[in-house]
Amino acid sequence: MSPFLLTRTLDEHAAESALRTDVLEGLRMAQKALPPKWFYDSRGSELFEEITRLPEYYPTRAEREILLARATEIAAASGARTLIELGSGSSEKTRHLIDALPALHAYVPVDVSESALAGAARELLRRHPRLLVHALIADFTSALRLPQTPGPRLVAFLGGTIGNLLPPERQTFLRAVRAMLSPGDALLLGTDLVKEEAVLVAAYDDAQGVTAEFNRNVLHVINRELDADFDPDAFAHVARWNPDEEWIEMRLRAREAQTVKIRGLDLVVPFATGEDVRTEVSAKFRQEGVKSELASAGMELTEWWTDSEGRFALSLAKAS
Ligand code: SAH
Ligand code: AVI
Repeated sequence: MSPFLLTRTLDEHAAESALRTDVLEGLRMAQKALPPKWFYDSRGSELFEEITRLPEYYPTRAEREILLARATEIAAASGARTLIELGSGSSEKTRHLIDALPALHAYVPVDVSESALAGAARELLRRHPRLLVHALIADFTSALRLPQTPGPRLVAFLGGTIGNLLPPERQTFLRAVRAMLSPGDALLLGTDLVKEEAVLVAAYDDAQGVTAEFNRNVLHVINRELDADFDPDAFAHVARWNPDEEWIEMRLRAREAQTVKIRGLDLVVPFATGEDVRTEVSAKFRQEGVKSELASAGMELTEWWTDSEGRFALSLAKAS
């Protein structure tokens, strides 16, 4: 059996206090907003996995295609002995990378979802009996206390999750990633690309309503954790392309005027008919933008690979 360690750097108390702050601040703003990391309790993580299998949700399949096609090149360029993955989820696609990295000693998946980390570790331990898997329950936007493992390091941030950060958060995040890189280390970054609006909107508003349920899951999380009385069905799922920002916005729209009690915060939140809570942005990128955001954070784009239909890109970068 391979060694498996799970470190909880985000204890339940800290997570609850972060949720309290985010809900209090987010629902008091003129344009109500909640950060997307609160989608991912165990149900939210399951719903996300279901999304990845939907016919309309192309990013996972497109990124897997690139990983399979380029795994050997990525392995040769990085020679990684430690693979750190931020927002690793099920680690399902990462297996192709792990299979291709012969010198890999340690895999460090980092995620806020304990259930996703546990499921991923079970599968990895079965397939890679000699790999050290050191999972971290942590918020990747906070300072990470990474385990001492051998270099070179490859830091992977897949799935296009970088697009769920707002531009200033992205810059802070990329600078923190840069600080993790020593000479010889690399970043592997997945970004979804700007494309036809209809394709983008369908990916976030699927016919089966799985994304709608994923979106409403944040209300279930707040009900459970903060003793609130949101009626998730009283909110419609909205997915819109914002052409100025080049991002998809997911919103929850009050179907009618209502008042929600959040007992854990001693807060009453009024909603007007048609009022929105923005629950996620999912930015779509162009090569020039990725290159310049990396450069501003002190990194140099060394490889840019897309899938055969040009929908998604994987970038390899190093400290400049
Ligand atoms: N990388 C996987 C999963 C993407 S889903 C893939 O490509 O399929 C996004 C993942 O990031 C989820 O597992 C979620 O729990 C995690 N996540 C979201 N915000 C996070 C944060 N601030 N810190 C750590 N993990 C986060
Ligand atoms: C995790 N992240 C990259 C997904 C995305 O596409 O922005 C989350 C998601 N939201 C709705 N569907 C999927």
